[in-house]
Amino acid sequence: MWQASKANANPHYGVRAMFIETHDSLPLTPDYDAWPVDVSIASIEHQPRELHVYWEDGQFSRYHSVWLRENAADDSTINPATRERILDLSSLNAWPTIDSAALEESGAVCLTFAPEQRPLRFHPGWLRAHDYSNGHTQDAPLVAVTTWRGSDKQAPDTFDANGWLDHPSGSPVDTALLEPALESLLSQGLVRLQNLPTAPGTLADIARRIGPIRPTNFGELFDVKAKPNPDSNAYTSIALPPHVDLPTREYQPGLQLLHCLENSVTDGQAVMMDGFAIAEALRDEEPQVFDTLSQVRWCFANTAQTTDYVWHEPVIRCDAHGELLEVRIADFLRGPLQTDFNQVEPAYEALMALQRRLRDPSFAMRFTYHPGDLVIFDNRRLLHARDAFEGSSGQRWLQGCYLERDEVRSRYRIVQRTKRQKRIATAD
Ligand SMILES: [Fe+2]
Repeated sequence: MWQASKANANPHYGVRAMFIETHDSLPLTPDYDAWPVDVSIASIEHQPRELHVYWEDGQFSRYHSVWLRENAADDSTINPATRERILDLSSLNAWPTIDSAALEESGAVCLTFAPEQRPLRFHPGWLRAHDYSNGHTQDAPLVAVTTWRGSDKQAPDTFDANGWLDHPSGSPVDTALLEPALESLLSQGLVRLQNLPTAPGTLADIARRIGPIRPTNFGELFDVKAKPNPDSNAYTSIALPPHVDLPTREYQPGLQLLHCLENSVTDGQAVMMDGFAIAEALRDEEPQVFDTLSQVRWCFANTAQTTDYVWHEPVIRCDAHGELLEVRIADFLRGPLQTDFNQVEPAYEALMALQRRLRDPSFAMRFTYHPGDLVIFDNRRLLHARDAFEGSSGQRWLQGCYLERDEVRSRYRIVQRTKRQKRIATAD
């Protein structure tokens, strides 16, 4: 056991908590989430600017005093009604430091901060889940991304949604369907639900099970079917090349939902390909092409009689860690390239290398829509296309809408939170 005398002998060492207070229950956390205590704290020690936590499973965690002070859950830090922060750290008289630390019988940590001399309690489950000293980063994906090719995956992950809408949002049946469906969506960028009602407009109810719809100039819901005087190639019977929707917007819609109400035409198969798989193939095999597609800003434009959308962006975008963030591909919506004179030919060489990949049949997944099918896909990752169909052979009617990726992530987090809450309640 780490002795107080050791701490006294060497100022490098922290001061071990020497007493245990009694509290009946664990403290609040600065959020609405649920944090099961899967591993208890064995002991703690502190320095003025650091808390050290030794966990029962051997893990060792460090937390800065300033970070702890800002993330306390008391009503001087967080508005208890909203769980939003009200503390302005710079309003403190000095840098917040730890004067004393105690490990409670409840398992919580109680720290007294200077200069306020304010005792604040911290939930061990929350501390463990936010242990940034062991490489835990909050921007890690909720579900690991798995790229795929149609040659390996012949159909979307598919779930039976018969009767789903008869159960309210948040009910056990609702959650039992959404959890695996959203996991497929987050991982592979694509999921299919089947046996849904085919009444026009049902899609709005379905979409709101995940989150609010993003309206566009095509409305909240749009009808994909051949019609007179079309304002998009989608509203004809011709083939559509692989594309994302609305690359002409600064922020492309994150999710697209397509709900099949009727399909009795000959041909017109749906085609999906994973734009991230294509981009990764380029990064591995033609890195110069990948770099050029990540750097040159192409023009994406959609001009109509009453609207005029234009945006310039690279075809491939990565985040700060080099992980793929989005692709922006739609040949029929590219406007004239406006870039450095010497970049033009390399830009077109890279573009054509990409176009050759889009024709590689190994990337394409092909399937037929049946009435009652719903396909949800990541519109900033997957490319969708359509084979031509014979318009006089029957009816083909899809209804579509857009959501943002944020809504899927939020919904999935709530599903996970609900599970944790039930686990805690069961343990109690
Ligand atoms: Fe489309």
